[in-house]
Amino acid sequence: GLAGHNAHHDSAWKHVRGQARYIDDLPEPEGLLHAAVGHSEQAHARVLSMDLSAVRSYPGVIAVVTVADVPGHTDIGPVFPGDPVLAGEIVEHIGQPIFAVAATSHEAARKAARLAKVEYQPLPPVLTTAEALEKAFYVRPSHTQQRGEPDQALANAPHRLRGQQNVGGQEHFYLEGQACLVEPTEDGGMFVHTSSQHPSEVQKLVAEVLGVPIHEVQAEVRRMGGGFGGKETQAAALACVAALLAHVTGKPVKYRLSRADDMVQTGKRHDFFNTYDVGFDQDGMLHGADLMVAGRCGFSPDLSDAIVDRAMFHADNAYFLDQARVTGHRCKTHTVSNTAFRGFGGPQGMMIIEQAMDDIARHLQLDPLTVRKRNLYREGRDTTHYGQTIEQHLLPRLVDELEVSSDYQARREQITAFNRKSPILKRGLALTPIKFGISFTAKHLNQAGALVLIYTDGSIHLNHGGTEMGQGLYVKIAQVVASAFQVDLARVKVSATRTDKVPNTSPTAASSGSDLNGMAALDACEKIKAGLVAFAAEHFACEPGEVRFENNQVVAGDQRVDWVKFVQTAYMHRVSLSSTGFYATPKIYYDHEKGQGHPFLYYANGAACSEVVVDTLTGEYRVLRTDILHDAGQSLNPEIDIGQIEGGFIQGMGWLTTEELVYSDTGQLLTTGPATYKIPAVSDTPPDMRVTLLASSPNPEATVFRSKAVGEPPLILGISVWSALRDAVASLVDYRYSPPLDTPATPERMLTAMNVTRAWA
Ligand code: MTE
Ligand code: MOS
Repeated sequence: GLAGHNAHHDSAWKHVRGQARYIDDLPEPEGLLHAAVGHSEQAHARVLSMDLSAVRSYPGVIAVVTVADVPGHTDIGPVFPGDPVLAGEIVEHIGQPIFAVAATSHEAARKAARLAKVEYQPLPPVLTTAEALEKAFYVRPSHTQQRGEPDQALANAPHRLRGQQNVGGQEHFYLEGQACLVEPTEDGGMFVHTSSQHPSEVQKLVAEVLGVPIHEVQAEVRRMGGGFGGKETQAAALACVAALLAHVTGKPVKYRLSRADDMVQTGKRHDFFNTYDVGFDQDGMLHGADLMVAGRCGFSPDLSDAIVDRAMFHADNAYFLDQARVTGHRCKTHTVSNTAFRGFGGPQGMMIIEQAMDDIARHLQLDPLTVRKRNLYREGRDTTHYGQTIEQHLLPRLVDELEVSSDYQARREQITAFNRKSPILKRGLALTPIKFGISFTAKHLNQAGALVLIYTDGSIHLNHGGTEMGQGLYVKIAQVVASAFQVDLARVKVSATRTDKVPNTSPTAASSGSDLNGMAALDACEKIKAGLVAFAAEHFACEPGEVRFENNQVVAGDQRVDWVKFVQTAYMHRVSLSSTGFYATPKIYYDHEKGQGHPFLYYANGAACSEVVVDTLTGEYRVLRTDILHDAGQSLNPEIDIGQIEGGFIQGMGWLTTEELVYSDTGQLLTTGPATYKIPAVSDTPPDMRVTLLASSPNPEATVFRSKAVGEPPLILGISVWSALRDAVASLVDYRYSPPLDTPATPERMLTAMNVTRAWA
């Protein structure tokens, strides 16, 4: 169970037995009230009047609050202002909370919340990215990164192609919806149980809304039933509303969203409109690229500035663009404010260059894999459009290995032959690589703290700033601590993440949970060990260099003492058995003005090869086989990492194929539950799925035990399915053309793509 070995998730047994407690499973405190909100029915309007009398008089209702009841800050925007805790005069999307109710039951609160009489004066809404782009209606200024002379390179290139795409958004569909339970403390503060990736931000915003010092508020997160980025900022809004109601009533308040309300009220993955203009030679090598990515941010900035930045940082994916310009727009629309989602804009940015790779290949009558391989970053062609030099060139090797292990070339021939003979069913194949930058692009977030306590029976209590959302962070960091002291994993207990144990934490996001908290925990262990080594050297009369921790024992010179005995002896000699730890990621910086820098400590890499079969009469399809080769550095826990890769891939496949968010032309989300919004089912898993970790590839950077982050990158491997679907469509015209295929590539869009392709011929 030490670092580098398999160990099951610390809550695995509780998960499968239904014993793991989520917010709604916590024992309910005496006098608990339940919250609900009334929300805007208009996408953009002025609220002329709000008659809440029927809400107030509904049986069981204890309190009704509006923004006028907020004692402190009313804006809870995480980075930039723009997110009112409850809307005031102006509403900016359907579903925006305008008042909140506390009642004696969940049902009473929800029913009462529907009884408000609100008079609106409609204002003109902007509902699409296209309209926002046309009007330059943005939540934040646009940004450009440029290297060299792209216009000249494009003009001079032997070949030039242009294209565009719409990349759909995605609902997080965490199994546990947004939820919190807030209890007033005797000092006028609050204790907040929250399902959040960012307890420190929940703590800070609750304090600000209540107008109390941060130390009056504690936030605790034991686990989330999935977050996927959807609980990085979105959980705070609920906690603030519940805290406001708890403050007004003096009672504990629980606030949990139904699935439909969750889908309407909370932000999703940004959908994007992207364009490319690329110049290349006869071999398909890029000479220049002018790329544009435009994300639909919704009504407020939330995290959109960083998300569109990350789309820009990843518009090259794995390829050397040569002379390049990448422009990113942050479109404002009167829809819910979109937010973090696994990949944080990166996947949406990569889609544009992946489309270009396929299009270049068709244009030159080359295999798409050939074009992809030729353009991979390598020695001499190794600087990104934002100026970071890529130092580790894993991809050429990784793609070659996957090409062989997936039998790409032989299957390519078989598939081409199959398609010639098969009039209705067409097969497609694609192998796509990924390169994903690891580090928060907001530099200050790249820090972490930990707290390690050893008790006199040798048991160890571990706390760190990271949160557990199913990804296995807790067990990984416990493995790091067990390794530091060379004791059994069972000796290490990880406790709930709490703001009064480790302060000022960063969100568990950007896949950096184990990188940051693992190093902080290791730092704490090293500090304790330094004291223990000094003590052992003195006590056992040996050199400090002769003290080792191994196999549940401490070796000091020629003496060997059992861990428990040693800890007790150290205690009796008044040696400290606890420490905090800290870590800040080195080497990173980014100059936003210049659009240049070194924003990532390193890159994670992987590649996937997917094969699909398409029914050309209905547009329906299946994924038949997927082979994945992914780099997790020296994995902290191979089985957990493979689980992350499998889950990430399936989630990415769902994003690009079946998960469709449909809005009415008034801006109302129509797909508000599993009946209309289709996440992949077990039966959508490729029947043949082979996931392998890249062998012997320790992280060249000094990360925790030379591991690499693994949380988000595998989602992007889902692009192989989309590219394989385009490949199947292209077979209709003997691979001479491939049409745009917007995502999600639903059967309807596949039919359209096939019609366009036939019409081209
Ligand atoms: N895995 C599970 N099971 N549940 C999740 O919510 N979130 C993903 C990824 N894997 C998620 C997950 C996202 S968006 C991120 S950023 C990382 O986990 C965060 O955890 P890490 O930094 O510890 O990898
Ligand atoms: Mo993950 S989108 O960084 O929470």
